[in-house]
Amino acid sequence: MCGIVGYIGQKKASPILINGLLKLEYRGYDSAGLSTLEDTTISNIKNKGRVNSLNEVPEINTLTGTIGIAHTRWATHGKPSTTNSHPHMDNSKTFSVVHNGIIENYNDLKIFLTENGYNFLSQTDTEVIPNLIHYYFSKDNVDDDKKFLRAVQSACKDFKGSYAIEVISSLYPDRIIVTRKDSPLVIGKGENENHISSDIPAILSYTKDFYLLEDNEYVEIYRDHLDFYNKDLAKINKPIKNIEWDATAAEKDGYEDYMLKEIYEQPKSIRETIGSRIKLDAPCCFDELNFTKDYLSSLNKICIVACGTAMHAGLATKTLIEQICNIPVEVEVASEFRYRNPIINEKTLAIYISQSGETADTIAALKLAKSKGCKTLAISNVIGSSITREADYTIYTHAGPEIAVASTKAYTAQVTLLAILGIYMAEVLGSVSPLILENLKKEIFDLPNKIQTVLNDVSGIKNFAKKVYNEKDMFFIGRGTDYAVSLEGSLKLKEISYIHSEGYASGELKHGPIALIEDNTTVVSVITNDDLVEKSISNVQEVATRGAKTFVITNQDIDKSRFDYVIEIPAISKLISPALSVIPLQLFSYYIAKEKGLDVDKPRNLAKSVTVE
Ligand code: F6R
Repeated sequence: MCGIVGYIGQKKASPILINGLLKLEYRGYDSAGLSTLEDTTISNIKNKGRVNSLNEVPEINTLTGTIGIAHTRWATHGKPSTTNSHPHMDNSKTFSVVHNGIIENYNDLKIFLTENGYNFLSQTDTEVIPNLIHYYFSKDNVDDDKKFLRAVQSACKDFKGSYAIEVISSLYPDRIIVTRKDSPLVIGKGENENHISSDIPAILSYTKDFYLLEDNEYVEIYRDHLDFYNKDLAKINKPIKNIEWDATAAEKDGYEDYMLKEIYEQPKSIRETIGSRIKLDAPCCFDELNFTKDYLSSLNKICIVACGTAMHAGLATKTLIEQICNIPVEVEVASEFRYRNPIINEKTLAIYISQSGETADTIAALKLAKSKGCKTLAISNVIGSSITREADYTIYTHAGPEIAVASTKAYTAQVTLLAILGIYMAEVLGSVSPLILENLKKEIFDLPNKIQTVLNDVSGIKNFAKKVYNEKDMFFIGRGTDYAVSLEGSLKLKEISYIHSEGYASGELKHGPIALIEDNTTVVSVITNDDLVEKSISNVQEVATRGAKTFVITNQDIDKSRFDYVIEIPAISKLISPALSVIPLQLFSYYIAKEKGLDVDKPRNLAKSVTVE
């Protein structure tokens, strides 16, 4: 995880770097640091704590350099501390490095470097990088302009693991060198200045022109130009990509937090994800995919693989795809899938969902499926992200930048896009009557308005949150697609309000977990699957009889007096209801966290982009 930024230009670098880091804090926020080139010496300022803690270091005000690199950390090797924060320098203080990723063989490299006279101050894996660069630099007898670049490349050749790195050197005060492997890094091109970042939104206010690096490419970044190299240091051309995102889309826009803003953006983000893919009088449009009836008919199954909330989006749409395409769908967490030798082959379509497109386990699981001959399809929210470059096909959600660590609008966009994909495949297959598909399309068109209806009056959800925010345990239950959304509701509560919760299939409660229900345990039930209403109600009654406080989210005509608290949502097909019933659950977690005075955008121990396994 971790976020990195860099700047080279005409302006003072430190405020630009801090500004960029603040936008990347969602990637990690236990310590931060920056290096700037002050004439021909490197100033290195670091502090434990959030990015703003850098402003408490008195020397920060003395910096005037116009070249710098910076880092916000999510600790993997070595506890959060000033010493372990990046940037790390080599012993001679000639090279300074920030790094996102993990150098897996750092211990071997540390032993090698120690034997060669190098000392280490931190417990990090990163500290081997500047020292190894120094080692190769000092061994190179050719004193030309590419010596610095060669040293970086030689060091990288020794690394096992993942890295996006930026390096500056006191001997080369006119450039920053960057490279990446399996960790994100983008370069923003400006007018006589260039920016570097782990993601696009952090530097979107400076430029809309970006270079997206491939693995093992190197770049020498100067103020007025950039030189790109392949892994063998042969010069290459790199196309510029114009990114249309509006910089204000990554700002809070008057909302108290990003999470609330993103919850309220969902009608818009779903409309944008639908885009022109659905037409009532024509088949769904996926120009990126060339799925034929023969190909889809040959499939033995579809595997949907992802992590966390993205995996829940797969669970939420499994039933829809199975029912209308008549193809078995398996949904699995990527960290398990990648290590269990799954039975998949060229007759399996493997779909990978990742908002960031950088999740290490999801990318590894995709590579595994490719090696077994599957066609791979990535669903991502970030243009040009790593997963989209690995997959055979990519389709994008258009949720806009999601900054809050807890995913909200990405989930509903993923559910929507998967539902449209299911309809598209059913149309190609001719597996179900056109009328059924037309009705589903209408439901998807109506989804943004129905979400807006829920967002228009959140008082009921807020009131219930106020009653229960001090509790220690909660349950989320449902049947069918309501079960899938219960898992997501439970995850949201855990991650932002730090309340332990379990998501359970309603019918499974009596097989064990019901033992945990006692007086006043809150049980949140989602009841939208019309064919399972009575059974779901019975399950709620079972917990109510044992003292539970019952909070029901429903669009069914049920006797409300039987429950403690009921939130009504608009009617919708059970096949896409998770994209609607999740809204009260998102708000419920949000208001509980606010009651507890927690930072909803940056919950403890979490990071937005999980680029380590
Ligand atoms: C939870 C959350 C995470 C992510 C998961 C996958 O709110 O955000 O569970 O869904 O880390 O991330 P992506 O979708 O970027 O692969």
